[in-house]
Amino acid sequence: MPITFDQQHHVFKLDTSVSTYAFMVYQENYLVHLYYGAKLPDTDLSYLMYRGKFDSLSPYNPKVEDLFFSPDIQPFEYPTNGAGDFRISALSVRGGSGDAVTDIRYVSHKIYDGKPSLPGLPATFAQEGQAQTLEVETVDAVTGVKSTLLYTVFEDYPVITRSVRLENGGEAPVVLERAYSSCVELPTMDLDMVHLWGKWWNENNTERRALQHGITSIQSKRGMTGSNHNPFVAFAHPSTTEESGEVWGMNFIYSGNFAIDTEVDTRGTTRVLMGINPTDFRWRLEPGESFQTPEAVLVYSDKGLGAMSRTFHHFYLDHLCRSEWAKKKRPLLINSWEAAFFDFDDDKLVAFAQEAKKLGIEMLVMDDGWFGTRNDDLRGLGDWYVNEKKLKGGLSHLIERVNALGLKFGIWYEPEMVNPDSDLYRAHPDWAIRAKGREHSISRYQCVLDMTRKDVRDNIFQQMYNVLSQNKIDYIKWDCNRNITEAASATLPPERQGEFFHRYVLGVYDLMDRITTAFPHILLENCSSGGCRFDAGMLYYAPQIWTSDCTDPIERLTIQFGASLCYPVAAMGAHVSANSRASVKTRGVVAMSGTFGYELDPRTELTDEEREVVLQQVADYHKYYDLIHFGDLYRLTAPTENPYLADWQFVSPDKNEALFCRVIMRRPPNLYQSVCLAGLDPDKIYVDEETGKAYSGALLMHGGIDLSAYDYANNYDGDSFMKHFVVR
Ligand code: GLA
Repeated sequence: MPITFDQQHHVFKLDTSVSTYAFMVYQENYLVHLYYGAKLPDTDLSYLMYRGKFDSLSPYNPKVEDLFFSPDIQPFEYPTNGAGDFRISALSVRGGSGDAVTDIRYVSHKIYDGKPSLPGLPATFAQEGQAQTLEVETVDAVTGVKSTLLYTVFEDYPVITRSVRLENGGEAPVVLERAYSSCVELPTMDLDMVHLWGKWWNENNTERRALQHGITSIQSKRGMTGSNHNPFVAFAHPSTTEESGEVWGMNFIYSGNFAIDTEVDTRGTTRVLMGINPTDFRWRLEPGESFQTPEAVLVYSDKGLGAMSRTFHHFYLDHLCRSEWAKKKRPLLINSWEAAFFDFDDDKLVAFAQEAKKLGIEMLVMDDGWFGTRNDDLRGLGDWYVNEKKLKGGLSHLIERVNALGLKFGIWYEPEMVNPDSDLYRAHPDWAIRAKGREHSISRYQCVLDMTRKDVRDNIFQQMYNVLSQNKIDYIKWDCNRNITEAASATLPPERQGEFFHRYVLGVYDLMDRITTAFPHILLENCSSGGCRFDAGMLYYAPQIWTSDCTDPIERLTIQFGASLCYPVAAMGAHVSANSRASVKTRGVVAMSGTFGYELDPRTELTDEEREVVLQQVADYHKYYDLIHFGDLYRLTAPTENPYLADWQFVSPDKNEALFCRVIMRRPPNLYQSVCLAGLDPDKIYVDEETGKAYSGALLMHGGIDLSAYDYANNYDGDSFMKHFVVR
């Protein structure tokens, strides 16, 4: 059984194939954390709760018969505010008396097979026999608030998911001021923190730095995740590398204001909280009401950052992406945005499709500009009906023409937004988010619709439904090109305005749920000015997310390497565009380590030679689809660590196939005639498909592959190659 409770020592153990997570019910029903790390056979672990000695200023509970126990020191499962623990707290509830002292104690628990869904929220799921769940009920005796801590352990993955259900079991209303989803207590500060920061066009820069005393927070308060900081973090020993050493990876399944707070206390221990950002969060619970926090995903690896990433990748494809497209081969698309921006009509799109067809492309995606009066980005958002001046004869007619060429058809939406210059805004100016008495700021000439309101969601759903149900649409790109300011809802009473941001996210999830339920066969791609909402919450609904508006392959190396720390290659939207100095071949090598597609005018932006390259790329896309999308990714040479080149590799699950990819960014001073592969079977014999030469897996992994024929002197600026190895 992966989850056990040792009655004698009062210890809960959550075991995965490689890890153990343990905590205990201590005296006075405190829930004390004990351990998270490599798998352990023992259950008597209580000594692990002592992390430093009592200070003269440490408060204690006189009912606890243990001189060394103080809330000031002990690691807790779900630390609370104001009752003796002075570190950052996961839960803070302001009760009927007006104070925010919160103190939870164990009441009961249950262990059962399966994984519950979380109402209104994206969350991981499991089929029968794949997971076991522990629910630990606690109560705060004064407010009556019950916190139920949920933990799920997955049979085949070193993964634990966590969330918390809060219920007001008291008689007075309470306000949740902090309600995090998980707390991890690591016994040391000798750790590096790895996280992803960035901005528009420059997402997912990987930063690794040593922990220091004090509090570090990575967060968003934009209303959306943002590209500034991704809700992913990993902690690794300083000696941990890509393929060796311990790592604790954490990711939050949420698309709004999040916070990952790390406190290193003055005893040198580390507390990590992950949850909804408490800034701008106040949630009122009337007696009997409950609140479910979003879900946190914890991955432990004893084989470096690479193994952590591979766990996230496979786990998300198996247990998070609910779309039927998660594991299905997706059509190879061409997108109109960089090819035409707003300047298109039906004939131009059909001409794109005609040319694309010759290249083997399978779907035309009509991006922004097909609706209302949307001839530029100044107007039209909110008016989701076809502009028949542009698409003469209507959308169905256009789709028929595209389908007749043998291509599927996709369409762009930005459902959460409205331009002041739109029919929707003129009819419902109050639907745009603004705080009472204040003007709303404008960003990209647009405002955000109040998605907390059902009437607003109903209107947008109905508009989308009309188009989607009357036309043969195979794909939607769901965009979101601004963040929320002057946040408030006209329909919430003053005491509930603190709920706005989370209610907004719940509203977006509700709309996505309705669309994907009504049209389950449509492939949904998420986007937010590129990768500004690249998170696990979106992955639940959309199996792919546009990774960045930057399509230059050299820049994309850093962006995609960073994203791959947590998110699968199968989720990373990546296209070959005309927007680069690098060769079409290199653009293809990088985009192929993503969902792959094109975003250029196929009539004018490819030379005859480049067309030949594209035909080869399309063949490679089909040949390597499974290997790239469902194989194991190994990051061999990171573009942030080597200024000259980047190397990465895929290995099929049966280890019978491997694909090595290299991009040369600058002319290297060294020869780079070899590189060691990873993840192969040492005893199998692999044949280099290009040269026909055979090597053992052991030789390829320890001696390296033979690149001596490659001439870096002449091919250094954005050149690339792939090498395919197959077991004989
Ligand atoms: C965002 C997206 C682009 C494109 C435009 C359309 O910037 O990231 O891919 O769809 O919007 O306005």
